[in-house]
Amino acid sequence: AQAVEALTGKLKTLGIDELPAEPNTYPALNPFDLYRSHVAELLSKSTGIDTKIICPALQRTVKTEHGDLQMAVAALRQKRKDMKEFAQEIANGFPGSPLIEKVVVMDALLMFWFKAQPLTSLVVPAVLKFGKSYGFNNFQGLRDPADPSKGRKKMIVEFSSPNIAKPFHAGHLRSTIIGGFLANLYDAGGWDVTRMNYLGDWGKQYGVLAIGFDLFGSEEKLVENPIGHLYDVYVKISKIQKDEEEKMKELKAKIEGLKKEEKDTSELEKQLQEVADNGVDEGARKYFKRMTEGEPVALGIWKRFRDLSIEKYKRTYARLNIRYDDYSGESQVKDESMDHAAKVMEEMKVSENSEGAIIVDLTKYSKKLGKAVVRKKDGTSLYLTRDIAAVSERYEKYKFDKMIYVVASQQDLHLAQLFKILEAMGYKDLAAACTHINFGMVLGMSTRKGTAKFLDDILETVAEKMHEVMRTNQAKYEQVDNPEATADILGISAVMVQDMKGKRINNYTFDMDRMTSFEGDTGPYLQYAHARLCSITRKVTAAVPEIANIDLASAADLTLITETQGIDLVRQLAAWPDIFINTLKTQEPTTVLTYLFKLTHALSSSYDHLQILGSERETMLARLALYTAARQTLNNGMRILGLSPVERM
Ligand code: ARG
Repeated sequence: AQAVEALTGKLKTLGIDELPAEPNTYPALNPFDLYRSHVAELLSKSTGIDTKIICPALQRTVKTEHGDLQMAVAALRQKRKDMKEFAQEIANGFPGSPLIEKVVVMDALLMFWFKAQPLTSLVVPAVLKFGKSYGFNNFQGLRDPADPSKGRKKMIVEFSSPNIAKPFHAGHLRSTIIGGFLANLYDAGGWDVTRMNYLGDWGKQYGVLAIGFDLFGSEEKLVENPIGHLYDVYVKISKIQKDEEEKMKELKAKIEGLKKEEKDTSELEKQLQEVADNGVDEGARKYFKRMTEGEPVALGIWKRFRDLSIEKYKRTYARLNIRYDDYSGESQVKDESMDHAAKVMEEMKVSENSEGAIIVDLTKYSKKLGKAVVRKKDGTSLYLTRDIAAVSERYEKYKFDKMIYVVASQQDLHLAQLFKILEAMGYKDLAAACTHINFGMVLGMSTRKGTAKFLDDILETVAEKMHEVMRTNQAKYEQVDNPEATADILGISAVMVQDMKGKRINNYTFDMDRMTSFEGDTGPYLQYAHARLCSITRKVTAAVPEIANIDLASAADLTLITETQGIDLVRQLAAWPDIFINTLKTQEPTTVLTYLFKLTHALSSSYDHLQILGSERETMLARLALYTAARQTLNNGMRILGLSPVERM
């Protein structure tokens, strides 16, 4: 409300009596919405076309060389033969406006340029006033934007979801980065977000692990590094399991041979039976059975592995600014839920018996979906079965409006099957509320050292590399308070930015040298841009201490920003709230990242032309206000991505 008042006041001084506010626009939060509504209202008067048609047709231009807003006249849905002529006609009829500099016609496209001075005076103080929340729009997640008392929409973002005792592979890394971003995004969009980690923590392999721990486990190592140690144990015991499998195959072949020769096989049969009865596989089966039956000792050991792993994961996720609200997992899915799902599938004739197993034939919906097993012959559940039952459990617990699964595209089929089965079971709304956010692969991630099996190792390796790079500038390095911690943050930024640069679905190559470079569009470069803006403020306040007590939002005279570079920078700042809304549509981190790089490029073109120290006091204030607003916007964008902006590096 305060923002609206301030804005209305400013517009009055420009001769605009009412705040232009078309439906579904947020002029107080989003400068582009203000201009959109304003232009739509003017055009509606001059053309007679409804603002509801005009307003959404006014789009932010991709390049500032093409103005600020553009409109393809075809989007006005008018029956006109000559669209070029139509465009020219509209341009000719466009009345003057205190906010619009000019309208340019290019073929059937109209391009609107904002007047620089009202723009700078509207945008820069707004950024400073909104501060940490500039650009965010928490109306998006309201059940009813007109009535906040109806509450917020509920969202579950399920992401990362690694498997206990298995490596944390690139798929989990990407899920963590992208999922963390999506959760932040919807948070800032006003949704009520639950961050969920669905661990792969159930199945016969946990019986294998327990047996392995008896043989190779060390209490000390388990406490020290549970994830790494359990993995080592798992590798050792799996080897024995495989050897036994081989042995059994061999024995079976030999027995067959002897039988053909009608010789005595009893000795070999005995040997075979011995391995079958006492081998790892059977032991694991029995062990897992004890777990599924809730036998306290078996369950206790497994629970300890799980708890220790989660403790360790929590610390690693914290390095990435990620906290989970719910550590769920395959083990948490209740038998009752699976039994219930089985009953519904049977009653709805979704499932059928196939040689003792229960399957769902999805080929009748689409060939590609194939047939899926939901119950094995021995009665045990599968990955898919647990996912089916988990949906209802999550709905019972959270009543979500939307649930996002952030999982590699290798599992496209699995999730498509899951959603289709839900639909077939009659849970149409539930199925519609679920989405799979997928992504491509990371190539070349196994480092030569072969250590990059776990998230911590990956982060460690990149941090070391970053530390090396930092040390190449000794003078700067000495000013950083805690170089190890900064190197850690920079390394994480390097990994994350490389991951988020392209469209999610694209594969990319893990390239240590490129991602840790300070040049080009990298994480360290973004961090550098932020640190540089922080250093500007530090230097100015050191030189002119009284500036620290000035409220720049009200004291700075922004009409003093007249340089093209400064104005272009303001145009970028103005775009952030619109980029934010667009990101909710694309659900692509690259939408934010591409914008942040544009912003930092506009910044680096400005420094030479808009120096602060040595300028007149008033100019100094205006420029400091501009840089402060830029720092805030960059900071807000980086935080949505999950990066921790550094102040020095
Ligand atoms: N733990 C699984 C894996 O590593 C990913 C889980 C994805 N989520 C799900 N609900 N299926 O492959």
